Amino acid sequence: MFLKMLKRGKNMKPGAESNSASGLADWVAERAGGLERKRTSLAVGGEVWHRTFVVHGWPQAVSPEWLRPLVREPLPEGCSLRIAVHYRPARVDWNWATNMRVRRLERSVQSAAESGSPPSPDEVRALESIRILQEKTLYHGAAVFDVWCVVTVSAASPEALEVASSRLEKVCRNARIAVSRAPYEQTDAFMAGWVVGVPDGEFFKRHPGRLADEDSAAALYPFTYGTLDDGTGIYIGNRAADDGDGSFIFLDLERDPEGNKNFVVLGASGEGKSTFMKSLLTSLLLEEYQCFVFDVDGEYRFLCNQVGGLWVDHTLSSGRYVDPLRVPPPLGDPNEDAARLDGVLNAVMRTASLLAGGLSPAEANAADRALMRLWEKCGVRRDDQGTWARLNERRVHDWYAQLKALANEGAPGAGSLADKLWRFFEGAQSRMFAVPDDVDFGGSPLVVFHVAQTVNNELEEHTAAVKMSLALTSVWDAVRRNRIRGNRWSAVFCDEGQRLLLDPNASRFVNTLATTIRKWNGLLVLATNKPSVLWAHAEGGTEGGSGLWSNSAYKVLFWLEDADMMAVEKNAELPAPVLSTIRKLRRTHRFVLRVLDKGFDVLKLSLPAEELALYKTRGLAEER
Ligand SMILES: Nc1ncnc2c1ncn2[C@@H]1O[C@H](COP(=O)(O)OP(=O)(O)OP(=O)(O)O)[C@@H](O)[C@H]1O
Ligand SMILES: [Mg+2]
Repeated sequence: MFLKMLKRGKNMKPGAESNSASGLADWVAERAGGLERKRTSLAVGGEVWHRTFVVHGWPQAVSPEWLRPLVREPLPEGCSLRIAVHYRPARVDWNWATNMRVRRLERSVQSAAESGSPPSPDEVRALESIRILQEKTLYHGAAVFDVWCVVTVSAASPEALEVASSRLEKVCRNARIAVSRAPYEQTDAFMAGWVVGVPDGEFFKRHPGRLADEDSAAALYPFTYGTLDDGTGIYIGNRAADDGDGSFIFLDLERDPEGNKNFVVLGASGEGKSTFMKSLLTSLLLEEYQCFVFDVDGEYRFLCNQVGGLWVDHTLSSGRYVDPLRVPPPLGDPNEDAARLDGVLNAVMRTASLLAGGLSPAEANAADRALMRLWEKCGVRRDDQGTWARLNERRVHDWYAQLKALANEGAPGAGSLADKLWRFFEGAQSRMFAVPDDVDFGGSPLVVFHVAQTVNNELEEHTAAVKMSLALTSVWDAVRRNRIRGNRWSAVFCDEGQRLLLDPNASRFVNTLATTIRKWNGLLVLATNKPSVLWAHAEGGTEGGSGLWSNSAYKVLFWLEDADMMAVEKNAELPAPVLSTIRKLRRTHRFVLRVLDKGFDVLKLSLPAEELALYKTRGLAEER
């Protein structure tokens, strides 16, 4: 899979060999009269050529027997073979992710059986393997190991090395053992073939071992991960048109790394939008995306708890918020890092403007000046990034204090702005910004922001919009951080998108995400029951909705109420047969999937009962 290749590719740059291993190799080379590192071999002293193969695909059963064909194979004159096997204790976590995979696998095998077609042999085998492994580790307390194997061929000339290598590769193919010539990693691989020269853990991380139980003959646990999504992408539904064959459909989101992978999900209440979102969310979590959810109703709480996610309550009553003065830690990207202080300035100005309901030029200047005074007071200097973190000890209240001081000095604009903001910092509204949240998303697979919608209460509207805007900024930071620091993929989910899009600031943010998140290895998923928010020129249309509509490779269309369907008919440019299909989908939980440049299909999610139950939980009332 592309994602995994990316992760590995990152570590496999030419010359990126580890120091400990090359140190030993140099020691050997020095005594042997020189070492020449080639892409897939090592030449020692110009006399002996070595090539080390790493086993990455193992036969069905791992027992001492499996090596026999290798050692039996006669090699050309003067060539030798060395095989090294490493064992390390492994841990199998029977956590939610494993259980989810097993259930989906079961479901897939079971539905094949129901439809009368033979299930995929790979899936059946994977399922059996997991069950055996589960039985052994969970119920009988058996120990498991990760096993690695490397095979080194040595020859007296490069030509002989080629002949011996080809022969070995052929034997492995016949024995169903997959080996790699380990390009650019020959030193590490060579060391792994020595009892004393075990390379550092990084090498083993790059080349995951094969899980074996005490009998060395158990299941391919990591392999089961691949049966549902390796190479085929994520599960998106079963073909469900009247003439559909019920087959499972997968989407390979990373096949086109340049294109956008955004989703827009449309449908009337109760048709299955949230269920779709949560299923997609689960699939992306299984692919190790970091996911962010903006949850207006608190209906993701249960799922969040189940997957060990971070629940961030930024509703009005919680008093929690992200402080606009917060300076994110440096990323290692010069441009991004240099822009961090401007980020604070923007956040402060936006906060002031949202709270005050707009700023006059004099008020904007006063807000700016108050911030500069605060910088000065904290010793923050624009030209010295090392001083910026000092702002993290301050809160937006300190900025307000500077503003008031300016007002006392009679600075233009400061008095009127301080008056407008008084109620949020000193008046009854001040509890809204009671607890600054030090949002550190690093370790969480899932971060759910429980945010208040901007309601029709004028007072609350301001604070909700500010909290939302600050939360959005911190998510955008995290997405960029994921890309720059870890080459990690991110996904941002907005359920009940029509409510978010009502907030002009959030709408602008959705627009930015929709148009640029692909460059940051990310995707945006937004669901709404009000399709008109998606077309700026339609009544109730929004900027963010429009940006998403024209920048979403995947459209998911459930049945819609008549009035909403008319909006779709008018604006969505869908062919007539597709429109009439959508009209027939009511209460079937089926949806039309439109994939950019690929056409349409009618699908339905076929989810295990346990998974459906996990998604059903709604609202905070059901918190357990
Ligand atoms: N594929 C499916 N198979 C079985 N049940 C489903 C499926 N999709 C949805 N449901 C059920 O339908 C009900 C409504 O689904 P869901 O909450 O996802 O709808 P929604 O479109 O998000 O509605 P709302 O707009 O009210 O939030 C839930 O009880 C859910 O379990
Ligand atoms: Mg819903």
